[in-house]
Amino acid sequence: MVHILTNSNSVLNDFIAFLRDIDLQKNPVMFRDRMEMFGIIGGYEISKTLDYYIKDIQTPLGISKMNLVNTKIIIASILRAGLPMHQGLLKVFPYAENAFIGAYRKHHKSNLLEIALDYLSSPSLEGSTLILCDPMLATGKSIVLTLKEMIKKLGMPRHIHILSIIASKQGVDYVKSELPSAHYTLWCGAVDDELSSQYYIVPGLGDAGDLAYGPKI
Ligand code: URA
Repeated sequence: MVHILTNSNSVLNDFIAFLRDIDLQKNPVMFRDRMEMFGIIGGYEISKTLDYYIKDIQTPLGISKMNLVNTKIIIASILRAGLPMHQGLLKVFPYAENAFIGAYRKHHKSNLLEIALDYLSSPSLEGSTLILCDPMLATGKSIVLTLKEMIKKLGMPRHIHILSIIASKQGVDYVKSELPSAHYTLWCGAVDDELSSQYYIVPGLGDAGDLAYGPKI
């Protein structure tokens, strides 16, 4: 199942427009803040699909029956660009457990793209609801490799939510072709048509990690 969050109009459009805008995105404080807002809104949308239980809440005037989230949630982020979204998701699910993954692109002269995973810190995933955030789903290869490695080492989640601000059509198709559809739901702010020869999403927003945390060598 793929949800494109800007298919219906909401204030989320303003946040994504900010992140894409070549002038506005130069402010890293605001860039991280808008990414965090995306994490909050994405988390809110995901929360509508979770399991709930009924709890009696004592108010000063009586008892209110409230439906509360009844799901073991693990928030996982691909370093480093996923971190502001991770913070946003933690505001929505403050008692979630946390996982961090180091995945980077190895560029070859032939333009072949290889993804290397070099860091994984995570609790067991068995039976959990995993929310994996990666702001830019470009080729889809990092997400797919990350999920396959995590499942192999840490067990099978009950369900996986992949949350991305911008995806490419190609990335969405790759995820669909590699992961069994019953296992995951993909939530994207927007889906763009193209990938550049360097595997950047077009029009996309540029390099999310550099914009949030500064350039790397
Ligand atoms: N990572 C980014 O930061 N931007 C892209 O367009 C693709 C991958």
